[in-house]
Amino acid sequence: MRVVSGIQPTGNLHLGNYLGAIRQWVAMQDAAAAAGGECLFFLADLHAISLPVVPAELAASTVEMAATLIACGIDPARSVLFNQARVPAHSELAWLLGGTARMGWLSRMTQWKDKAGKDREGQATALFNYPVLQAADVLLYRASHVPVGHDQKQHLELARDIATKFNTDYDVDLFPLPEPLISAAAPRIMSLRDGTAKMSKSDPSDASRINLTDSDDQIAQKLRRARTDPAPLPAELDALADRAEARNLVTIYAALAEITAEQVLAQFAGQGFGAFKPALADLAVATLGPIRARLADLLADRGAVAAQLEAGAERARGVAAPTLRAAQQAIGLQV
Ligand code: TYM
Repeated sequence: MRVVSGIQPTGNLHLGNYLGAIRQWVAMQDAAAAAGGECLFFLADLHAISLPVVPAELAASTVEMAATLIACGIDPARSVLFNQARVPAHSELAWLLGGTARMGWLSRMTQWKDKAGKDREGQATALFNYPVLQAADVLLYRASHVPVGHDQKQHLELARDIATKFNTDYDVDLFPLPEPLISAAAPRIMSLRDGTAKMSKSDPSDASRINLTDSDDQIAQKLRRARTDPAPLPAELDALADRAEARNLVTIYAALAEITAEQVLAQFAGQGFGAFKPALADLAVATLGPIRARLADLLADRGAVAAQLEAGAERARGVAAPTLRAAQQAIGLQV
């Protein structure tokens, strides 16, 4: 069992990342240890350059995001934690896979279409090639499990297509097909302003998301102002089908309390948001407060976090080297 996943170090970690992905990463640490496997988690700083970056901010965000992951429970002594750019094999394998990935496959990626919008000609080629690098990220470590949120499903399916075509074209059995792990406990968290858009770092409205760095007051205020409707909460989940904002808050409550949405409704059926939102705010503050406190401690010594990343990169380079060599050999690049 080898668990691999990454996160872009742009902006702050938000509740969507935490409930949708990072909490699963933390759980996988135990599962991998029990199965005699290992976990590799990385800051996808090479992916970040697919959109314009401010160099000093990227460097600072990488350390801050690493500290946030540690504050959430990723233990650098048990998991290999590093930033992608310090393991050159990611870029090297991505280039090799560029011989396998097809233009048509990449053109169909919804994230490319969303991010490029109407200006495809003006985008960095890295934005188009982004999923090839992501395939390299997981294939480099011959990952068995890749815990991600729903929005990454298509990219992982592409990684499987690339792995299959590479193995077939070069007649090797090099890359196992990575399994996307989108657990039921990993909900899709939507914007607090629009229940049909995902909670995202790139949303211009800070009120749309809860950042893991938000104060207790900010968390409570954002939830109080979250868009909802005037109807009380129903007893049945089906009745929330056309109430995207209400459903999102119930989803968040269930994920934070680690219970099902049905159990949340059993507790709050008939009550309005005037009662539900403060209960949700209390729960969110109780969960995120301790993480924020640990993060503040860790950021008091950024050098120590950077040193942990470097130690992780050293370990990752060791794990990556044999796969890269085997891929080169398969293609005929090593004589
Ligand atoms: P990124 O940085 O956008 O998000 C990190 C993780 O958080 C999940 N996520 C969400 N889950 C639920 N609700 C939301 N609103 C929400 N927003 C984000 C994402 O699904 C993801 O799991 N391309 C990736 C990073 C990456 C990667 C990889 C992931 C690069 N290489 C290899 C897995 C394997 C990304 O931009 O995630």
